[in-house]
Amino acid sequence: MSIAQNTETAAKLRCISCGAAPDSAAQDFRCTACGDLLEFFFPGWTFGSDAFNPPALDPAALKALWLDRRASGEALDQSGVWRFRELLPHIAAEHAITLGEGNTPLYRLPRCARAAGVENLRAKHQGMNPTASFKDTGMTFAASSAHERKFRWVACASTGNTSASMAAYAARGNMHSLVLIPEGKISWGKLSQALDYGALTCQLRTDFDGCVRILTDLVRQKPVYLLNSVNPYRIEGQKTAAIELMEQLGWEPPDHIIVPGGNLGNSSAIGKALLEMLELKLISRLPKLSIIQAHGANPFYRSVREFGGKKIEPVIADTLATAIRIGNPASWKKALRVLQATGGEVEEVSEVEIANAKAEIGADGIGCEPASAVTLAGLKKLHRSGFVKSGDSVVLILTGHALKDPDFTIKFHRGDLFADILVAGSCASGTPDAAEAAKARYLQRAPIVLDADLGAVIAALDAAERT
Ligand code: F0G
Repeated sequence: MSIAQNTETAAKLRCISCGAAPDSAAQDFRCTACGDLLEFFFPGWTFGSDAFNPPALDPAALKALWLDRRASGEALDQSGVWRFRELLPHIAAEHAITLGEGNTPLYRLPRCARAAGVENLRAKHQGMNPTASFKDTGMTFAASSAHERKFRWVACASTGNTSASMAAYAARGNMHSLVLIPEGKISWGKLSQALDYGALTCQLRTDFDGCVRILTDLVRQKPVYLLNSVNPYRIEGQKTAAIELMEQLGWEPPDHIIVPGGNLGNSSAIGKALLEMLELKLISRLPKLSIIQAHGANPFYRSVREFGGKKIEPVIADTLATAIRIGNPASWKKALRVLQATGGEVEEVSEVEIANAKAEIGADGIGCEPASAVTLAGLKKLHRSGFVKSGDSVVLILTGHALKDPDFTIKFHRGDLFADILVAGSCASGTPDAAEAAKARYLQRAPIVLDADLGAVIAALDAAERT
């Protein structure tokens, strides 16, 4: 039986602000009535709730079905996204472009737990996806929808990971891809992926927000399919990270889930999945979903803390965590809704806090890119403020792999990174950041250049043993 084919579970689009429900989306995925974002909803899910009129989806049957699929040899069943297709809009199997995404590990982080002051800390590592970031879970689904609609070209504006992911999935689906990235502000790892996967890559002399503006105008004029996270198919695919997480936890939700916030698509997707899983009785309570931004790219933090979420004021973003160097997040209203619905918090963290947290995640033998490390840095602050209790269970969502941005890592361990930050004047002596920078000394492991001499290596080993 294919539950996904059941018409009662069919997905419909609606505007998040005015509630208009178009049959199909415009090329820019904006509501034609009010200009806000669209989302999918599933009217059939709430259809039946009594004995005569049973719910369209039975939670126990779904859990068993998803587990069974793990033993299947079918490509769609092996994907950690398509395995959960009953909770996604329908896309015909022949259009599915999959690289076996999802299925990412959930790790315990014992050292980070001690550093943060909590007992039960885990990380779901979305950097273990095929192109090494969480973007693949949304991209497999949205690229497949482009294929189903017979687009020749797909496009995105990106700080690097979306472009790497889109280029890979477009190539697998025999589509052309256009990438708009801010010149000089993305890591070589991500840029090199887009080139290798064959994208037409344009480095624009602007920031991410400038790239988004140009792309939005472009898709209104050209038959190009927009693959940024304003595309609701991206959000649907990214929901599966939360579904998979709950399955890994035996459907017992943690107290807290902590995510980085950039354009705010990911937090919206994870929150949407949590609310839907509660509605479908797949879980019995909601974890608090908290969103962490870099201080230099904190429009959502400011929106919540200063304006009570009533408005957002775009900022000129600047952070060494280039993935989240975003000043005008598209999905802020969706993120606000799930923040409020789950009772989560917002926090902002400094450059030095991000760098130390990244090294701590590395020292647990896991590693991640700088943007992902805001989660641990944010957790430390949320614990200090009392929002997270020592006995609470916490899951960090690590969004990108450590090898995405090795320059950052090398600079940190050589001690050059803080020189950059100090020069930028954001870390004056006597400030909390200066204290945090002093802590970095214990995390730094600069390479040692030696003569090719056994005695020299033994001396280095003995010195390391003494410290
Ligand atoms: N972490 C990483 C590694 C990212 O690449 C991004 C976003 C985020 C966190 C933030 O996620 O935007 O959904 O809030 N990167 C985008 C890109 C914008 O173009 O790759 P978000």
